[in-house]
Amino acid sequence: MFIRRIHNTDLSVTAVGLGTWAMGNDFFGHVDDSESIYALRAGIDAGINLIDTAPAYGAGHAEEVVGKAIKGYRDQVVVATKCGIVRTKDDFIKNLKPESVMKEIDDSLRRLNTDYIDLYQLHWPDPNTPIEETLEAIEKIKKAGKFRYLGVSNFTPEQMDEVRKITPLVSLQPQYSMLERSIEKNVVSYCQENGLGIISYGTLAGGLLTGKFKQIPAFKEGDFRDKFYDYYHEPEWSKVQEVIKVLKSVARDHNKTVAQVAINWTFSQLGVTSVLVGAKSDKQARENAEACSFTLTLDDLQKINKAIRENLD
Ligand SMILES: NC(=O)c1ccc[n+]([C@@H]2O[C@H](COP(=O)([O-])OP(=O)(O)OC[C@H]3O[C@@H](n4cnc5c(N)ncnc54)[C@H](OP(=O)(O)O)[C@@H]3O)[C@@H](O)[C@H]2O)c1
Repeated sequence: MFIRRIHNTDLSVTAVGLGTWAMGNDFFGHVDDSESIYALRAGIDAGINLIDTAPAYGAGHAEEVVGKAIKGYRDQVVVATKCGIVRTKDDFIKNLKPESVMKEIDDSLRRLNTDYIDLYQLHWPDPNTPIEETLEAIEKIKKAGKFRYLGVSNFTPEQMDEVRKITPLVSLQPQYSMLERSIEKNVVSYCQENGLGIISYGTLAGGLLTGKFKQIPAFKEGDFRDKFYDYYHEPEWSKVQEVIKVLKSVARDHNKTVAQVAINWTFSQLGVTSVLVGAKSDKQARENAEACSFTLTLDDLQKINKAIRENLD
């Protein structure tokens, strides 16, 4: 599998990283922990080295599952987690207050069963906390050796500038897929100019870009992915289906799956270091891990880009 180093770090991460939101078992419907552990181990065995998690996924549950799955594999994986979203029963509360961040890191280390986090990311900007206050706490945590490198997620270039004035920043985690391309306007160029890695999320738009849904899905109780990924209703749904038709024909030409083509397309875009993809089973993890092991030709990319332009721009 392709490996790229995040600039100014010794972190080399695989083209595909394993996302663990669904493993929190409170947003993507019910997932058995044993299935999640199989999925994580299958991904690692298939060569994936980047695992992305967060306390917000199941109020710490996803981190606990990751902690179990990487037992004995800690040296083989780059563990990325986050702080700054605190869960209540029904809500995700943005909180980058110093005292909260100081507590979150210790909780994450305990749940992940590790002494250090490789990549610690501020999950979302918190408009109620001055970033200087958050970063003072972050620097204390770093000095204590609890994490190695700092990243952010869902930050604008202006917000990243504020962080970089105070402390080194190595990566951004934005949403990026063929359905959500807003980072192409000025975020990708900002990251390139400033040597920041891009670890993108939402590659499959919560499964939509696998082409497996024949009609707008009625998700089971406890599955809210269509509230976060915004294409599960008209008129977006029908437009996306036109793009999926093209992905299906490209997938057929290469004897690959639609998911693999969608993942490969994202990894092929300018500035992308690694693409995160969630998996609920060992089969999905293996399929996704192999997604960048073939080359989309210029002709394939042009066909896909034309479909995106004609239907989604
Ligand atoms: N920083 C942030 O704010 C943020 C936000 C969102 C996500 N993330 C990170 O990015 C990761 C990836 O995003 P995501 O998990 O939300 O969505 P995603 O990767 O777009 O979709 C994952 C879902 O798609 C389905 N799937 C995956 N591979 C498949 C395959 N090969 N065939 C068929 N179905 C497949 C699975 O659900 P079903 O089988 O149930 O369909 C899986 O849970 C997250 O897990 C998380 O680590 C970060």
